[in-house]
Amino acid sequence: MEILISSSVWDPKPWVEGLSKSELVDKIHVWPTDNDLSNVEALFVWKPLDSGVIERLPKLKWISSLGAGVDHLMGDPQIPADIPITRIVDPFLAQDMTNYVIMGLMMYQRSISTHLANQKSKVWDRIGYKPLKVGVMGLGALGGHLAERLKILGFEVCGYSRTLKSLDGVACFDQSGLDEFLSHSEVLVNLLPITNHTIDILNACLFSKLPDSAYLINVARGNHLVEKDLIDALNAGKLSGALLDVFREEPLPEKSPFWEHPKVSITPHVASVTTPSSAIKLLLKNLDLLVNGKELLHRVNIQNGY
Ligand code: NAP
Ligand code: GLV
Repeated sequence: MEILISSSVWDPKPWVEGLSKSELVDKIHVWPTDNDLSNVEALFVWKPLDSGVIERLPKLKWISSLGAGVDHLMGDPQIPADIPITRIVDPFLAQDMTNYVIMGLMMYQRSISTHLANQKSKVWDRIGYKPLKVGVMGLGALGGHLAERLKILGFEVCGYSRTLKSLDGVACFDQSGLDEFLSHSEVLVNLLPITNHTIDILNACLFSKLPDSAYLINVARGNHLVEKDLIDALNAGKLSGALLDVFREEPLPEKSPFWEHPKVSITPHVASVTTPSSAIKLLLKNLDLLVNGKELLHRVNIQNGY
């Protein structure tokens, strides 16, 4: 089978090297290319496709995102409705995301940035800390893994998802229980996908339903967050701080107030990055299923948008 890889931000080399070891793979093309693409049957994509890619792939049978998110593919008018789209669900992705959130949570709970600043000025201040209730928005491959690990670490955890979940020791809420979920979330972690229903969900109204001085960790997508509402909530003291890994515009523009806000910590969309060697196993498994006419793993529900 011939494959096309399109990623405007990642080095295609590890993907090409890993995939080309499979007997199922005849040829790998990397976008942009002048090659004849008329025999390409599988398209692996990270970041939005350039216009005109799909019309060069008359035999296309399958598209996979190279990450967990598929927002770069949803609503792209050049993608035919009948082409299955899959995404990466991978143990390393879940483990890395969980570790990142735990890092952010612990740094907040134990006032680590203040201790580091105090060290610089030789200040000995034994700042207290308290147990935290953590709310995880989105209980899918990443949020579900996180909620279970947080519980094991001794946090009181509640979770929120579209359909009601049952996770050991985690108080689960569906959409009808959003307000109650928020009222318990002293730290709110966003791991929802971006859809028509979740865009701008982190806004002033939602913040007003959190306990006073709540802390926000946004590791899902920048478009979930109304940035001005966050700045206002931080400045008013409604929220005590935020750790942001994702932004409406990436790289974060120099003029963004987040760079210098004293209550905001930022990282450049590195919470959890796909590990090619591991994700390639899933891509090859799906390639095998495709060749054998079977249902692909981790197929996106286009109606739901994730
Ligand atoms: P997933 O498995 O599809 O899980 C999504 C969860 O969100 C599910 O529990 C789903 O509910 C819930 N959900 C969807 N729409 C909802 C709504 N309207 N109201 C309430 N709950 C809703 O996704 P995932 O693999 O965990 O990934 C989540 C997101 O993380 C990705 O979409 C991506 O944007 C982001 N991400 C970020 C990074 C990073 O480095 N920052 C890395 C990887 C992924 P159901 O369970 O009922 O379907
Ligand atoms: C990263 O943001 C992903 O969606 O995998």
